[in-house]
Amino acid sequence: MYVLGIESSCDETAVALVERGEQNRVVDEQIKSQISLHAKYGGVVPEIASRNHYEVIDHLTSEVLKNAGLTMGDIELIALTQGPGLIGSLLIGLSFARGLAFTNRIPVSPVDHIAAHIESSFIENPGIEYPLVALVVSGGHTTLFYQESKFETEIIAKTRDDAVGEVMDKIAKFFGLGYPGGPILDKMYSGGNPRRYSFTAPRMSDGSNDFSFSGYKTAVIRHPEVKGMVVGGQDFNDLVSSFLYSVVGYLLEKTRAAVEEKKVRSLIVSGGVSRNSLLRQMFTDTFAGSSSDSGSDKGIKLYMPSPRFCTDNAAMVAWLGYEKYRAFPGVDYFDPSLNVYSRALFKESKRHR
Ligand code: KG4
Ligand code: ZN
Repeated sequence: MYVLGIESSCDETAVALVERGEQNRVVDEQIKSQISLHAKYGGVVPEIASRNHYEVIDHLTSEVLKNAGLTMGDIELIALTQGPGLIGSLLIGLSFARGLAFTNRIPVSPVDHIAAHIESSFIENPGIEYPLVALVVSGGHTTLFYQESKFETEIIAKTRDDAVGEVMDKIAKFFGLGYPGGPILDKMYSGGNPRRYSFTAPRMSDGSNDFSFSGYKTAVIRHPEVKGMVVGGQDFNDLVSSFLYSVVGYLLEKTRAAVEEKKVRSLIVSGGVSRNSLLRQMFTDTFAGSSSDSGSDKGIKLYMPSPRFCTDNAAMVAWLGYEKYRAFPGVDYFDPSLNVYSRALFKESKRHR
């Protein structure tokens, strides 16, 4: 069947058309990034985001259908991001999807954005085996999940403060490097010495397994040597590389502990920050023992989506929407009370250790 996916939770409007069933492929996807609109503010401005979603969502949908040579009459399911995200932005996606669904009598399958980031790995690797650990690293979230199966999810650890991508964005903003900071710092990594400065990995005073990243931000922007540094100079580049090396090492150690404790078959790393070159390299070296993006070592297989499926996209939404539709046939997919939510849904789970 053809599934239309709609993503509008933050600063990308994305519409994808995927085919699921006998054929499983992304037929077409159109993404309109709002980065240039938010860049001068150094972060996403919610009202600007909603207005832009509103302006482009209709056109992107027409483009996708035109490129696929299809009409709404060919679509059997509409999947959309229900949350978490910016309420105004999510409501544009929901209202648009509902309008399409109502006029064309098409069921609507709402999905969780973070669950869709996990699902993004299945687009290119349908055979990923459970149980698995998934590390979702993005601008809004840094969470380690354990999944017994696709719809049995438990949180192992989540950030207590900033998300890892958010810290990269804030550091870049502080030094006037541009927005979003993640890709900018990524490019700077190879120009510095990652072992020049050291940062202490945070430990929770209450013994919890959660992450914390705000200390990294403070340690970089208030570094005792930072006043004497020239942005773009060698010392500064060394500081950026050392920060990245340390923060990726922290993610890696927590993930390794989770994987060993849970004895899983697969590890997924996804979300915008999983585009990071150093992160991909270090995770591959540790878990795959080769430079490819998937491989096996110690009985566990590592999966990281291709860069286009790491950052926000609608193909992952359509993919998961279809899986939910198949898994829960009794649900009312025409529910008029369907609403959006801003905060992460997954419940707090048992302590990891
Ligand atoms: O998944 P995503 O598109 O949106 C959220 O759900 O948050 O992730 C966006 C985040 C931003 O913080 C951005 O700086 C980061 O992903 N990012 C990167 C890279 N590309 C994007 N971080 C590190 N290295 C990259 N190459
Ligand atoms: Zn995302």
